[in-house]
This record gives sequence, structure tokens and C-alpha cells, in this order.
Amino acid sequence: MFARIYFFLLMGCAFTYGKDVLPEKPDCGQQIVDSGMELRRVAKEGEFPWTVLLKYEGANPFKCVGSLINDRYVLTSSVCVTAKNQKVISALLGVHVLSESPYSEEYGIEKIIPHGDFKKGKKEFNHDIALIKLNTTVRFSDYIKPVCLPTKGASLVQPEGKVITTGWGKNTEGDQVTTKKVVVRRVITNEVCGEAFAKYNITITDYLLCTDSLKDYKDSTCSGDGGAPVVFKDEGTWYQEGIVSFGSTCGHDFPDGNTRVSKYIAWINEKLGQN
Ligand SMILES: *[C@@H]1O[C@H](CO)[C@@H](O)[C@H](O)[C@H]1NC(C)=O
Ligand SMILES: *[C@@H]1O[C@H](CO)[C@@H](O)[C@H](O)[C@H]1NC(C)=O
Repeated sequence: MFARIYFFLLMGCAFTYGKDVLPEKPDCGQQIVDSGMELRRVAKEGEFPWTVLLKYEGANPFKCVGSLINDRYVLTSSVCVTAKNQKVISALLGVHVLSESPYSEEYGIEKIIPHGDFKKGKKEFNHDIALIKLNTTVRFSDYIKPVCLPTKGASLVQPEGKVITTGWGKNTEGDQVTTKKVVVRRVITNEVCGEAFAKYNITITDYLLCTDSLKDYKDSTCSGDGGAPVVFKDEGTWYQEGIVSFGSTCGHDFPDGNTRVSKYIAWINEKLGQN
């Protein structure tokens, strides 16, 4: 029924923290408009302001998404920065509509830091995480703000909790979207997820966080959403729990696999401190 499992890379202020630390609430995870977990297909302007559009060299510049985690770093997937012949040249912050975004800003890249244990080209789905260091300090605005990470090292979201992914990947119908889309799904247990992926010989480890469609609202991440943030709202603050990594053909009712961000807080802090 499903052809294959693949990565979602598209082929075809006065803040008191700096670049080497992660912000804590209320300096992150806040936005000027917030429709919470309301089901909707597109974001309002200013909603999910940490969503970053990565720009690649060549004719098809938009293949992946990332998230702003402080005033200098973008979090994304390793696949998005290590795939052959796919060179990230800049990061677009504050984008709402792809072609016309009055509040967007383009930042150059200083350094790309993929996870050292991620194995390109193998049937390896762990450690699909990377940091991108921008070449200047980000100016935050109503449309450009960082997300919080689960810095205590444990996921805040529990199975059946609703999460939102934002990006500009294809929609469920397979069409390229232009306005920042909002995909609402629910977290499932790694056990249930592992059963679904067993037929592809993919083991769902503790490093992964799986999501599936809501029971009465089918929506999925798709090609072009790789590296996108999967966020959860806890007491009014948005935390990034996952990084979109792999899944089945878009629009099918099947789980997808995301990097579990809480497992990488130490790795992120180490890299922020070194670079
Ligand atoms: C940052 O990168 C951009 C795009 O490559 C470049 O135009 C700009 O001069 C760079 N800025 C700094 C401070 O290096
Ligand atoms: C899964 O692994 C088994 C045993 O190694 C093999 O026979 C089977 O063809 C594999 N299935 C897939 C979908 O790769």
C-alpha cells in the first residue's frame, strides 16, 4: 500500500540571553496571534513566528524548514543540510506567504552543524538533527521570535497530546502551498508507532517522537516539511518537541517519525557553547 518510507526533504529585543544559551519562557514560545490548537489549514500572519524557511542553491530553492531557537541559531534536520547537491545558502525568517512577505528577513549562514552520529544513506533514522548558525544576530520582531525547547530534557507532550507542525511543504493533496501551513496531529506511543513501521524494518527508538492524524481530522506533513518544528502548547508557551524527519506518502493515514528534541538538549547546549 505504501511505496516506501522516505525523508521529507523536498527533491525536486531586550532579551537577556545570547547566542550560546537557550532562552526560557517568557523569552520564547510567545506570539502576537495565537489560535492555540484550533484546527486550521494556514497560519495567521505572525503566528508560529519561529518557523524558518531554508533557501537552497539552484532552481528549486525551498526544500526544508527549520526553527529559530535563539538569536543566532536555527534548528533543523540533518538530512536537510547533508543531502548531496543540496546547499543551504540562507535562512528566511518571518515569512508568511512565499512570494510576498513584508516582514521577512534573509540571514546568511556562518556554519552548519549536523549531528555526528547521523548516518546518511543508511537505513538510519536516529539523530536527524542539525544546527545552523546564522552570520549575524537576529533582530526579533512581532513576526520573528524564538520557540522554547524542552530544556529539562523530558518531553512535555504525552501520547494523545495535540501538536502543530508549520511549514511550506506540499499539502495533503500534493500541491505546493504558498502560505505558511498549520498541520495539527496527535502524538502516539513509540510502541504503536513501532508496530506501524515494523514492516519497513524501521525501529522506533527513544530518540524519535511519532505523530498520527487526529481521529476526525486527517492532515499530514509532506515533502518539503523536513526539518520543520513540531510544537506543543504548555501553559501558554509553545515548546518544540519534534523535528519533522520521515514518513510515508503524503495524505495517507500513517504515522510519521520526528526527532525527539528533548533527547538532544545536551547536544544542542554543547554545540551552542562551542561555536
Ligand atoms: C551574511 O551573509 C550574507 C549572505 O551570504 C551576506 O550578504 C552578508 O554580507 C553576510 N554578513 C556578514 C556580517 O558576514
Ligand atoms: C526486513 O528484514 C527482513 C529480514 O532481514 C527481510 O527478509 C525483509 O525483506 C525486510 N523487509 C523490508 C521491507 O526491507
